[in-house]
Amino acid sequence: MNQNKIKKAVFPVAGMGTRFLPATKANPKEMLPVVDKPLIQYAVEEAIDAGITELIFVTSMSKRPIEDHFDKNYELEAKLAERGKDEVLAMVRDIIPKGVSCVYVRQPEALGLGHAVLCASSVVNYEPFVVLLADELVERVSCNPLSEMIKLYNKHNASVLACLDVAKEEVSKYGILGVEGDFLSSAKVSTMIEKPSMSQAPSTLAAVGRYVLSPKVFDWLKDIKPGAGGEIQLTDALVKLIPEEGLYAYKLEEKRHDCGSKLGYLKATVEHGIKHPELGERFKNYLKKYVNTELS
Ligand code: G1P
Repeated sequence: MNQNKIKKAVFPVAGMGTRFLPATKANPKEMLPVVDKPLIQYAVEEAIDAGITELIFVTSMSKRPIEDHFDKNYELEAKLAERGKDEVLAMVRDIIPKGVSCVYVRQPEALGLGHAVLCASSVVNYEPFVVLLADELVERVSCNPLSEMIKLYNKHNASVLACLDVAKEEVSKYGILGVEGDFLSSAKVSTMIEKPSMSQAPSTLAAVGRYVLSPKVFDWLKDIKPGAGGEIQLTDALVKLIPEEGLYAYKLEEKRHDCGSKLGYLKATVEHGIKHPELGERFKNYLKKYVNTELS
C-alpha cells in the first residue's frame, strides 16, 4: 500500500533577499540560478520527486517572476518549435509535469517564517504537508531526503524536520535542536530554540529548511507571539508539538548548500558546474588550470 498521502508542499518565497542585493532588487532570490536552473526549481523538483502534486507558493510583491517561471510561455514555446529546438522545448514544457498544480497565496506583511506558513493554511486544508526553503539546496544522490522524511512521518504519525551539525559560531543563524535517541532508529526532538546564542544552544544540530508537518502546527501558529528577531517563528510552533504529538529529527546525510549566503551559493555553483552534463568537463579543466596558475 502506498502510504504517502502527503501531496502538498509549501514554499515560503516572500522574503526580501537582502543578502543578495542588488541582484535581488527586482528579482526574487529564489530565481537566482545555480548554473542554469533557478533555486526554486531545484526545490520544486525535489518535492515532485517525493510524490508532491500540489505546490503552494507563499509570495509577496515583486515575486511575479516565480509565477511566470512555472506558467506556460506560449511565445517562447512557439519560437522554440519554429526553430526545431525540440529538446529545449520539452525541457521548458516539463518544468511542471502533468498532474502537478501550482497555487499562489500572498503573505501581506513580512512577519516571519511561521506567519508565511500560516498564510498557506486555507490551501493546505488541515492535511499533513511539507515545507521547503528554496535557499537550502539539497542534493539527491543516494536518496531523496524528503521522501525519507515522509516515510518517518508516516511511521510515527508525527512531524519531522531535517537537521545537520553546524559549526558553533553558526548556531545563531539557525533553529537549533536538542534530541533524544539516535538517528539510526528514531531521534526525538526534546527542545528547539530559534537563533540561540552559543551559550543557549542545546546542541549544534540545526534545522535546514525541510519539514514534514502535521496540520496541528496551524493551531499553534495562529496564537504564536513574535519571537527571535521580532518575527513569528515556525520553530516556536514546532516546540508546542513536542509534548502534544512528538517531533522527530532526520539527519541529512546528503550534501546541502546554504544558498542564502553568498559563499554557499558560490560553492553550489562551482559544484553543480563541475557535474553539469554539457559543460562539466570543460569547467573542471578550466578550474584546475585556474587553481594551478592563479591560486598557487
Ligand atoms: C529559517 C528557520 C530556521 C532554520 C533556517 C534554515 O531561518 O527559521 O529555524 O534553521 O531557516 O535555513 P531563516 O534562515 O529564514 O532566518
